[in-house]
Amino acid sequence: MDNNKSRGFTSNIGAILAAAGGAVGLGNIWRYPYMLGQNGGGAFLIVNLFFVLAIGIPLMMTEFVIGRRTQSNVVGAYKKLERKKGWATIGYFSILAVVLIYAFYSVVAGWTLNYIVLSCTNSLSGLTPNEIADAFASFTAGSFWPLLYQFCFLMLTALVISFGVQKGIEKISKILMPVLFVLLLLMVVRSLTLPGAKEGLQFLFKPDFSKLTGAGVLGALGQSFFSLSLGMGAMVTYGSYIRKEDSLFKTSLWISVCDLMVAILAGVVIFPAVFSFGMDPAGGPQLVYVVLPNVFNNMPMGGLFAAVFFLLLGIAALTSTISLQEIIVAFSVEELHWTRRKSSIISMISIFVIGIFCTLSFGPIRHWTLFNRTIFDFFDLVTASYLVPIGALATTIFLGWFYPKVEVKDEITNGGALKCRFFELYYFILRIVAPIALIIIIVSGIVG
Ligand code: PFF
Repeated sequence: MDNNKSRGFTSNIGAILAAAGGAVGLGNIWRYPYMLGQNGGGAFLIVNLFFVLAIGIPLMMTEFVIGRRTQSNVVGAYKKLERKKGWATIGYFSILAVVLIYAFYSVVAGWTLNYIVLSCTNSLSGLTPNEIADAFASFTAGSFWPLLYQFCFLMLTALVISFGVQKGIEKISKILMPVLFVLLLLMVVRSLTLPGAKEGLQFLFKPDFSKLTGAGVLGALGQSFFSLSLGMGAMVTYGSYIRKEDSLFKTSLWISVCDLMVAILAGVVIFPAVFSFGMDPAGGPQLVYVVLPNVFNNMPMGGLFAAVFFLLLGIAALTSTISLQEIIVAFSVEELHWTRRKSSIISMISIFVIGIFCTLSFGPIRHWTLFNRTIFDFFDLVTASYLVPIGALATTIFLGWFYPKVEVKDEITNGGALKCRFFELYYFILRIVAPIALIIIIVSGIVG
């Protein structure tokens, strides 16, 4: 177990893989394809790509600056940087967002364990489409199994976290991320060699802007935030572990490229297969759990590829839950002076207790609603539409308007050692473009 004071990743590749692991998750393989399917395929992809490059990368650099400058968790970082008291509220805000996100994220992460088991035991093969849909509905509406899988996922995450930044997070990311890419490429080859794959690729890469609504554009912006794990302190925390000699721009660029690549490749896996077997690409959140098992049932060696796919999904989810929990653990180790083990256990149990409500909101307590939504949907909405964009807005305003420009430049150029030709552009995005985009998200969330 390493001591959080001798903190940090041991190499740049370790930092990139760990942060890319945090970014690449259910958002890429579960959420991105179904959002793309519902919002005009390629049109959504192009708009999302634009937002990642124009706002996502600069915001990631901003979070890295805050973390690395202070070498602190998300609350401690603002405490160290603030000239006037009060800005550390942003840190507490992030912790709240993370708790709510982790509570519902761990539900879907738990589902992946169930589907790994089902596909490894060949339990889905031979079922009719209706039976597959029923199996999903009755599993998620239950109590014992979804809760058990959720708990297992949380335990697995806490176990990795308890080994520390270098021996836990960095080490596991260096193993799992390459495995994830290999499994994904295997799936890509399988999908592209299916008859009729072309139609799926056309759907993915030929933009149909007539299907993209204003809400779809906002969805693409929100997706870029969620997918890059921005606005909730994940990149502040991981930024504090990046070595002083590494380039924050290049690190952010690599992480974003990995994240985009996985999302696009997930689309390349899913849509050719969906089209090839005449399924509906706009299947919504059930796309990977209900539509894909049908696809696997119809494909040669489908059982094997189902197992590979759900393993891939589970790995992606695990490296993300690790980054979620690390935000809380870094905070409690540094601010509350708990040991890493104590922090891991207490945060795991707390998240589980809250997460129980999210899991059961698919079943026994589906009638408990907040503002007309189930608890799961409410947590999703509150975090995606309010907490994350408000947190990100406060971050850009703080660093762009209430912190000296020279210090920002000093951190980005590693004290002048690196040239940063894009600094003025970055700074303009930080002060003007990103806040405006975030205000639009927040206002449209309130109005819409
Ligand atoms: N970026 C992750 C995904 O796309 O699944 C989700 C996520 C992880 C969000 C960690 C926030 C976070 F702090």
